Amino acid sequence: MKMMVNLLNWLCQFVFRVLQISKMNIIIKTPEQIEGIRKSSKLAGDVLLYIAQFVKEGVTTNFLDQLIHNYIVEHGAIPATMNYNGFPKSCCISINEVICHGIPSEKVVLKNGDILNIDITTILDGYFGDTSKMFTVGETSEAATKLLTATQHCLDLGIQQVKPGNYLGNIGYVISRYAISQGFSVVYEYCGHGVGIHFHEDPQVDHSARKNSGPKLKPGMIFTIEPMINEGRPRVKVDELDGWTARTADHKLSAQYEHTILVTDTGCEVLTDVLGEYPIT
Ligand code: MF3
Ligand code: CO
Ligand code: CO
Repeated sequence: MKMMVNLLNWLCQFVFRVLQISKMNIIIKTPEQIEGIRKSSKLAGDVLLYIAQFVKEGVTTNFLDQLIHNYIVEHGAIPATMNYNGFPKSCCISINEVICHGIPSEKVVLKNGDILNIDITTILDGYFGDTSKMFTVGETSEAATKLLTATQHCLDLGIQQVKPGNYLGNIGYVISRYAISQGFSVVYEYCGHGVGIHFHEDPQVDHSARKNSGPKLKPGMIFTIEPMINEGRPRVKVDELDGWTARTADHKLSAQYEHTILVTDTGCEVLTDVLGEYPIT
């Protein structure tokens, strides 16, 4: 009897997963769409290179947002976050215990020791590119440096899993295994996502997942990997006043790096990699 129940339980879960995967609407991009998304992604990556020189003690996050806004518009594009579900600014800037969706503000002044994520999404000729990275202000603590290095490595490990035929879930599997091995935790409320034609498309890219779970990757898929890694517990608390700013519930540090990635016939191309840090495979 117990064996029958177990078997039935397993069967139900199996059917549920198959239905979940078949319900997804993952867009396989055409060569023309890929070219458009490649250009937009390159611009988003360029914005992060451009803004680096202005990240220093004493500047406000609103000042950085204005520079970013102007750069994007001057390059013929639109900042995707502006008015997105009511978001009021041209980028997200998330400092220290802020996990993501920090709103640039005149009241937030960068200070020595801060770590911050700047997240840029561009719309160029209708195509979306999405990338973010960490910056530091002045002297950074050893604990913060260790968190940044580990989070960057989480993204790199995730990218190494991107090749046709591999399971999407293996990205989250390697990320969470590594993060936990370093004594950190993975935020599970926010995920990577399909991107390119829309801001957020299928599939959802979990940064913690079971080995060989989810759909198989196919050439022409484009999605982000954007692990948010916490120094302490994984729990998130969204600011009740602004409805956006997501902080760690325990007020410990959080870090994030993000790239937009194309599945090629043989591996992947990191479309937001403007420094040539990732080989096209
Ligand atoms: N760029 C973020 C992402 O990586 C989304 C920001 S949405 C906003 O998916 F509304 F907060 F701007
Ligand atoms: Co994203
Ligand atoms: Co982003």
